[in-house]
Amino acid sequence: MTVDDQAARASVEKVEALLAKLTTEEKVNLVSGLGFNLNFAQPEAFETVPGAAGYTYPVPRLNIPSIVLADGPAGLRIWPDRPGHNRKYYATAFPIATALASTWDVDLLNAFGHSVGHEAREYGADLWLAPGMNIHRDPLGGRNYEYFSEDPFLSGMLAAATVDGIQAEGVGATIKHYVANNQETNRVTVDTKVSERALREIYLRGFEIAVKSSKPWSVMSSYNQVNGTTVSEHEQLLIHVLRHEWGFDGVVMTDWFGGYNAVAQMKAGNELLMPGMPERTEAIRTALDSGDLDEAVLDRNARFILDVVFRSLTANDHLRSDSPDLPANARHARQAAADGVVLLKNASATLPLSPSARVAAFGTGSYDFIAGGVGSGDVNEAYTVSLVEGLEARGIRLDAALSEMYATYEAEEKAKLPKKRMFFELAPSIPEMPLSEQCLERAVADNDLAMITLSRDSGEFQDRSLEGDFYLTLAEQSMIDEVSRTFRAAGKPVVMVINSGNVIEVASWEDKVDAIVLPWMGGQEAGHAVADVLLGDVNPSGKLPTTFPVRYQDVPSAEHFPGIELDGEGQVFAGGLMVAKPAEVTYAEGIYVGYRYYDAFEVAPLYPFGFGLSYTTFEYSDLVLSDEQFKGVIRVSVMVTNTGEVAGKESVQLYLSAPSHKQHKPVRELKGFAKTGTLQPGGAETLTMLLDARALASFYDDQAAWIADAGSYTVYLAASSRDLRLSDEFHLAEDIVVESDLTELSPADNPDQLIPGQR
Ligand code: BGC
Repeated sequence: MTVDDQAARASVEKVEALLAKLTTEEKVNLVSGLGFNLNFAQPEAFETVPGAAGYTYPVPRLNIPSIVLADGPAGLRIWPDRPGHNRKYYATAFPIATALASTWDVDLLNAFGHSVGHEAREYGADLWLAPGMNIHRDPLGGRNYEYFSEDPFLSGMLAAATVDGIQAEGVGATIKHYVANNQETNRVTVDTKVSERALREIYLRGFEIAVKSSKPWSVMSSYNQVNGTTVSEHEQLLIHVLRHEWGFDGVVMTDWFGGYNAVAQMKAGNELLMPGMPERTEAIRTALDSGDLDEAVLDRNARFILDVVFRSLTANDHLRSDSPDLPANARHARQAAADGVVLLKNASATLPLSPSARVAAFGTGSYDFIAGGVGSGDVNEAYTVSLVEGLEARGIRLDAALSEMYATYEAEEKAKLPKKRMFFELAPSIPEMPLSEQCLERAVADNDLAMITLSRDSGEFQDRSLEGDFYLTLAEQSMIDEVSRTFRAAGKPVVMVINSGNVIEVASWEDKVDAIVLPWMGGQEAGHAVADVLLGDVNPSGKLPTTFPVRYQDVPSAEHFPGIELDGEGQVFAGGLMVAKPAEVTYAEGIYVGYRYYDAFEVAPLYPFGFGLSYTTFEYSDLVLSDEQFKGVIRVSVMVTNTGEVAGKESVQLYLSAPSHKQHKPVRELKGFAKTGTLQPGGAETLTMLLDARALASFYDDQAAWIADAGSYTVYLAASSRDLRLSDEFHLAEDIVVESDLTELSPADNPDQLIPGQR
């Protein structure tokens, strides 16, 4: 027996012994959290970490502690103030998940997990309610900022690296929101109609990778329904897929107040009901009395909860310091933010800036960066470094008169905003400041270049709107027009910074600026990180984890997002912030999400998946496949050489094109990626990636199986999904049934509607 086996056996024995001692009433309590208190200023007695999202039920007579559950995903969400304490409990706002994903760097994500884990441990949180790993199905998804990518492989690998990092610190991870929760509109009622193939290949795949490779302690079920059943009541998804097929051994919890029928949730394998509601506990009691719920089901669920409780720091007598190393985490956040910056355009080598450049900063966002989104994914950080603060800290001379004008304007406009009713409410943004001719003339005379920031907030409870959010407001358009006209007339460049949690429309104004830098929402250190990139101290190596389409109509889900509302009463949630009507949404695009669609349907994106510029150039060479015939695994190696003038890092993407004579398939799919270390000019590194049988396979609905079809496979080594540098082929002699007899998840009359060649 290994040490791990011994520990596992000891834990099983302990849990069994406790289970035997628990009364039925104690078990009924255990499957439900302790409740929810929105008034952070007045914590309840059980709230040992004010602002944490939830607590499990303790049984003091048996020394079963209450463990602490806190959000995610851009850091640790706790409340900075505590009654009677004259200090603050700030947490580090790291870059949002989409920015972290732009690094394409599993080591960085692992380090991020360690950093958050350190903070969670020192502040006394046992389970982190992250990473979020839903797919970016549509750019209007209000919570996309909390998620990594449009691609399940990238999402799964990055989530797994994060989970490994945080769990190495003794803090459990909770991957969420399982599954197909890709919109906020009617999120607690919407029925997601999706084919089994799309579920398996796109929506479940990332979760599968994370569960199998990093063993998260917990999974959070999502609010929505999948093909007619609420996920937290969905036995096939929770027991058959998650536990039986993938071997999940942690605990499944509901999303907060999620689902409707506590008894159905218990039976379906949603063990923990969060945050805890008396009526659900009562429903469980009644069902036990009537015989509708078997006590064995309660035992099974309590067993999983106890197992995770006893893995926790709290149960293992960890003493928190309440003093995490915030300066160290700020440094980590800055590096992660800089590595996540994507350089989208750099005409005539506008960037990097000269350290002596005089800069006129336009756009309210330049003075007020948004660190992260709103809702449960918010972090209460001590400060956010803005673009101008980041530049000033590097000695860049900013136009003081312009700064002054913006400061006055922003103060006035902010004062007009209605007071937020709740911390998770998304405040309306303030309109862009009109720019007079006189102001522009003076600015262009006094400065060497203009910088403009476009900022976008987004958050839980609502999806984004098309006008004034995905598309620019009229005031933003005229700001770009006027700044561009004035500065270009004087031969001076315009640099755009996009501070957004999500994709926005760029095509209509791209020509009017010379360089575009995308830090997304870069966390509290974003201003420093962007300055690092603008000045060339960090050579940008970020690449897009999600496509920028030319226009919204190009998005494959555009016609069906966010679904249709059905007859019936609406329900009010989150203190009125959200009304949910009965609704359904059809994932008609099937597997053709993101680049899979743009490639198969020949729709040109503005910036393709995987795209990002650098201040240097890289050459790919020496592609070697370990074999011409597939015999279980193919090793792919490629050499990357820095052929430019400055040091830099490069993310290499491996796309695979599979034979499609038996069923339609994407043109090519991401099946591997790797990043070089910093390469000096002339420096080279060989990267290696592996392809196993599962990487070759696609899901066959009619056979409930993953099958790799015999035939010829093309491997592409690429700098983006549309910048294929090298390719080679290997052959598979006979079909391989990689996995079969899988659980049926979708009725046969629920097919994908979008099939290449049949449009
Ligand atoms: C969100 C979850 C979050 C939970 C606890 C819910 O509203 O959907 O992502 O973990 O609240 O704050």
